[in-house]
Amino acid sequence: MGTQTFINCSLLAIIITFLVSSYSAHSQDLTFKLIHRDSPHSPLYNPLHTVSDRLKAAFLRSISRSRRFSTKTDDLQSGLIANGGEYFMSISIGTPPSKVVAIADTGSDLNWIQCKPCENCYKQKGPIFDKTHSSTYKTEACDSKPCNVLAKKEKGCDQSRNICKYLYAYGDQSFTKGDIATETISIDSSSGSPVSFPGTVFGCGYNNSGTFDGTGSGIIGLGRGPLSLISQLGSSIGKKFSYYLSNTSYSTNGTGVINLGTNSMPSNPSNGSAVLTTPLIYKTQNTYYYLNLEAITVGKTKIPYTGGGGGGSSLNEKTTGNIIIDSGTTFTFLESGFYEKFGAAVEASVTGAKRASDPQGMLTHCFKARHKEIGLPEITMHFTGADVKLSPTNAFLKKDEEIVCLSMIPTTDVAIYGNLVQADFRVGYDLEAKTLSFQRIDCSGSL
Ligand SMILES: *[C@@H]1O[C@H](CO)[C@@H](O)[C@H](O)[C@H]1NC(C)=O
Ligand SMILES: *[C@@H]1O[C@H](CO)[C@@H](O)[C@H](O)[C@H]1NC(C)=O
Ligand SMILES: *[C@@H]1O[C@H](CO)[C@@H](O)[C@H](O)[C@H]1NC(C)=O
Ligand SMILES: *[C@@H]1O[C@H](CO)[C@@H](O)[C@H](O)[C@H]1NC(C)=O
Repeated sequence: MGTQTFINCSLLAIIITFLVSSYSAHSQDLTFKLIHRDSPHSPLYNPLHTVSDRLKAAFLRSISRSRRFSTKTDDLQSGLIANGGEYFMSISIGTPPSKVVAIADTGSDLNWIQCKPCENCYKQKGPIFDKTHSSTYKTEACDSKPCNVLAKKEKGCDQSRNICKYLYAYGDQSFTKGDIATETISIDSSSGSPVSFPGTVFGCGYNNSGTFDGTGSGIIGLGRGPLSLISQLGSSIGKKFSYYLSNTSYSTNGTGVINLGTNSMPSNPSNGSAVLTTPLIYKTQNTYYYLNLEAITVGKTKIPYTGGGGGGSSLNEKTTGNIIIDSGTTFTFLESGFYEKFGAAVEASVTGAKRASDPQGMLTHCFKARHKEIGLPEITMHFTGADVKLSPTNAFLKKDEEIVCLSMIPTTDVAIYGNLVQADFRVGYDLEAKTLSFQRIDCSGSL
């Protein structure tokens, strides 16, 4: 990557950031910071963890999270596993506002936070929201619209008080239970003062138990379903949001931003890198964002993608929408039959290095250099209508000075497009046009 290109790309990133923040002063176009869970600004930050500790933990989280998306279990309705994702958002709730740090999760819908008075709350950093001190807290009735949207097994009713209740049970015996309520939620916009969203539906969780220690105060749902923050803000943000994740390489401080609103979509300012647009596929399971992956090119070899449709009830649903895009899964999962050919093509085109095993025993395709630079193939993801060229940092991980591994792994279940491959792209979700777009805005992707 030449210096010239690098400067152009940095400039482009600055211009885009400027555009977004200047819009946000005037309309519902909002920019918020995302905090990677391993960054020093995260409540979970542990300075004693090495890069390799973090990678191993991220790998295990990816595996456990991939089960959430499984097409094979009945647990789909639980919607969540205790590990909600990789990025935190700082929000305030109630009047007067009380600050909480919650996971921003593209793989779930219902927003929930721990709520006092607790029957049973897990330990969190910082105070727990106390609904009795807020003047804007209001419970929802059992026949209310938000209550009716909950799945049967997630829904309850306190008949004596006419309050809708929710229960989310997770695969690992964790659960959260509480009242469905509305509150004023405000988010600190990075362009200035906090922006308030009165009457936001959320779960006020007073009985939360299990392995939640990695979850902050709760979850902000960014999924596609009716109770997610995105769906609730709906037309006021033109049903559009985008995010930009950077420095997820585990050697730097991971950061990102999320933008809500019509002007948040990638566009082509000053001849920037192209905006690549692909359809968002809608399925009966209405929380996740499905894309259609047609093929992957490794160097000069194009390999048709053969993975299945990842769930759904009709034949059409079974054959299209074969990969879920998710910001909360670090690694990328590809169907194992396809992966065999894909991995072989990667191995055949790596130069200056020999196949080696992962010192941590996680990744399948690692390469060890013999005192020289490793030649890595260019990898392009062919989504319908969008050929997304990955940088080496998207597709590979440097394990140590000598070993580089492919950051994609095989699965016998639904494929997932994880956050390492999304880094340094602006990823735009347009739920009105039903499209997803990618635009590379940083070219500093060398290993
Ligand atoms: C919390 O919910 C669980 C599961 O429904 C229940 O067994 C437990 O008794 C509840 N805890 C309290 C303190 O109410
Ligand atoms: C990401 O890391 C690069 C160098 O590793 C640095 O120059 C850049 O400012 C970082 N970006 C953010 C958003 O932190
Ligand atoms: C990460 O952030 C911390 C504190 O903000 C800083 O001391 C450290 O140098 C940063 N590391 C990198 C690689 O940027
Ligand atoms: C973008 O590129 C086109 C053709 O390459 C050129 O005509 C146009 O002036 C450029 N626009 C800007 C804003 O640089």
